[in-house]
Amino acid sequence: MLTLGVESSCDETSVSVVRDGKTVLSNVVLSQIDIHQAYGGVVPEIASREHVKGITYVFDQAMKQAQVQYQDIDLIAVTEGPGLIGSLLIGVNAAKVVAMNYGIPLVGVHHIAGHIYANNIEHDMEFPLLALVVSGGHTELVLMNDHYEFEKLGETQDDAVGEAYDKIARVLGLPYPGGPQVDKRAKEGKPVLDFPRPMIDSKDFNFSFSGLKSHVINLHHNMVQRHEEIIVDDFCASFQDAITDVLVKKTLEASKQYDVKQVIVAGGVAANKGLREKMSKTITHVPVYFPHIKYCTDNAAMIAVAGTFQYLKTHQASDMYLNGSSRLDLTLGA
Ligand code: KG4
Ligand code: ZN
Repeated sequence: MLTLGVESSCDETSVSVVRDGKTVLSNVVLSQIDIHQAYGGVVPEIASREHVKGITYVFDQAMKQAQVQYQDIDLIAVTEGPGLIGSLLIGVNAAKVVAMNYGIPLVGVHHIAGHIYANNIEHDMEFPLLALVVSGGHTELVLMNDHYEFEKLGETQDDAVGEAYDKIARVLGLPYPGGPQVDKRAKEGKPVLDFPRPMIDSKDFNFSFSGLKSHVINLHHNMVQRHEEIIVDDFCASFQDAITDVLVKKTLEASKQYDVKQVIVAGGVAANKGLREKMSKTITHVPVYFPHIKYCTDNAAMIAVAGTFQYLKTHQASDMYLNGSSRLDLTLGA
């Protein structure tokens, strides 16, 4: 089964061809990071325009690299939401045009289902499994008892992990997107600053990161006022140590409570080296898997994989009224 995936929910225009929800034949990603960097974050209006400019080229390249024709494609999977509505609409409309033109079934995929299913490319999913989803917009623990069954065990009450990383980086004067920068600098520093670990001992599986973020920002501000030396590497190492302590402890507890067979990490922050190390060292009673770095941040291969399993499970294709949706519930993706 050949699935064409399309992703345009934020600032990456991506198209991919995947065989049987597993083998990636092509995964073309056109990133807009350089353009948004000048503004210190994604500018939605600019993102939409860049998707329009790039989408046809990315479709062409993905088909060429996979060495397939549209007539060979069995399914088109496109990110339906959540995300920036202007960005989503470009991918959804392009996918609809191809689906209609060639009579190919079309499915709208939840972006987070895509991040979770990125793990299936290198490791077969075994159920029940626990997914820690950590991206720019999401932080949640999701239990799956079977393919395309998502049960949210807990989530952030305020900031997402990636969002906290990006804000801290900005205050420390590091370029956008801050997550990878903080990760790199953390490796050079020591976790000598005593930052809070919010909700680490709470009995539920919810998270909160705005208090930690404010603590780091306030300390930085006070040190600047007092003309004290700021060691950016140590700030990064201490922040990363605190945030990964919380993520790993809650994931460990949930994995035991729900007796899962495997733990997977999903989303852009799954690329974080500190998180990868601490997770693998702490959770040893079941396998812990991360997607390959290139499938951690936004890409269309993960959407093609998720779309394949969604279609196999539901046998339901969308009609041509499929629309982008800036807010979408993960459980409704099934
Ligand atoms: O999943 P993603 O590409 O987009 C969303 O769906 O949000 O995640 C992007 C987020 C950004 O906040 C970025 O700073 C963060 O993932 N990120 C990282 C790392 N690489 C990307 N955060 C921490 N460490 C990293 N190595
Ligand atoms: Zn994402």
